[in-house]
Amino acid sequence: MPASSAWFTLRWAGRAVEMLDQRRLPSEESYLRLESVEEVARAIESLAVRGAPAIGCAAALGVAQAAVTSDASGVAELRADLDAAIARLARTRPTAVNLFWALERMREVIATAASQPGASAEAVRERVVTAACSLVDEDVRICRELGREGAALVPDRARILTHCNAGALATAGYGTALGVVRAAVEAGRSVSVLADETRPFLQGARLTAWELQRDGIPVTVITDNMAGHLMAREEIDLVIVGADRIAANGDTANKIGTYGVAVLAREHGIPFYVAAPLSTIDLATPTGAQIPIEERGRSEVAQIGDRVLVPEDVPVRHPAFDVTPARLVTAIVTEAGVARTPFGQSLAALVDRQRIGST
Ligand code: MRU
Repeated sequence: MPASSAWFTLRWAGRAVEMLDQRRLPSEESYLRLESVEEVARAIESLAVRGAPAIGCAAALGVAQAAVTSDASGVAELRADLDAAIARLARTRPTAVNLFWALERMREVIATAASQPGASAEAVRERVVTAACSLVDEDVRICRELGREGAALVPDRARILTHCNAGALATAGYGTALGVVRAAVEAGRSVSVLADETRPFLQGARLTAWELQRDGIPVTVITDNMAGHLMAREEIDLVIVGADRIAANGDTANKIGTYGVAVLAREHGIPFYVAAPLSTIDLATPTGAQIPIEERGRSEVAQIGDRVLVPEDVPVRHPAFDVTPARLVTAIVTEAGVARTPFGQSLAALVDRQRIGST
């Protein structure tokens, strides 16, 4: 999101977490003010905030919220409250690894602050809030770096297909897949975006269209079943999507429907790019088969708003994500560079390079 935009995805507001309520977009732009860790957890579960990096940021702010609301006077007591908050937040959504990455970072911060000589509950609280705010700021910086890395893959006049929302709304700002689009625009390229509507929750129609329109980037919404037709007519030059978790071999979990788009792209010889921060790469998960896939409630598929679309008692399926096999991915764009096949080696090298750079 450019600094000039008048909206924000989420932020720390003194003693509360504020976030744009994405369930109400595009018809209403309203902000939630969350004053307990339980409220933050429910906002994540109900998709008021969503998108892998934004979920991680929200969880970190949730830990900060737990720190300021805890009435613990001693370090041990405060740590117990924070452990409970982390456990609650970890139960919100299973697929986006950024959630667990952010909670692990917060756990390390708490452990380090608590082990300082003469540590007090107040000092630990302060450290937790500072760390959560830095994680949010860092997310925007990483998205901008990732965008710059990816912009070179986007030719002038490119017609870009994206699925779901991997934009400023899915991060602390700027976006991953849409960060690449924004960086290409900032580099002077004229591009246009086709946004899959993204059934069942319509993140493409509601969110991608909303934020690109706010930035004046040309966007057209299509239903998910139109992509093949438009590829066959040579109206799509490349695909860029985000990711919720990338396994060590490059298999990529992202919003349900992404796999189908990747198969179509391969059939039509169109590059299929994944844009994600290194925090989305999960080297501890060898392949996509081990990635937990979230199942959401019946109503997301069987209803649109209050309108029931499926006869009562007819079962529906509702996996929220699918896995695109690495062989269908042309390249993975991260803030540390662009990984290409064989991803087992290239992803590990990028993660290593970052680890060495940060020590
Ligand atoms: O269920 P959601 O809306 O959280 O799913 C989001 C996606 O699948 C995004 O593409 C992904 O998290 C990447 S966000 C930069």
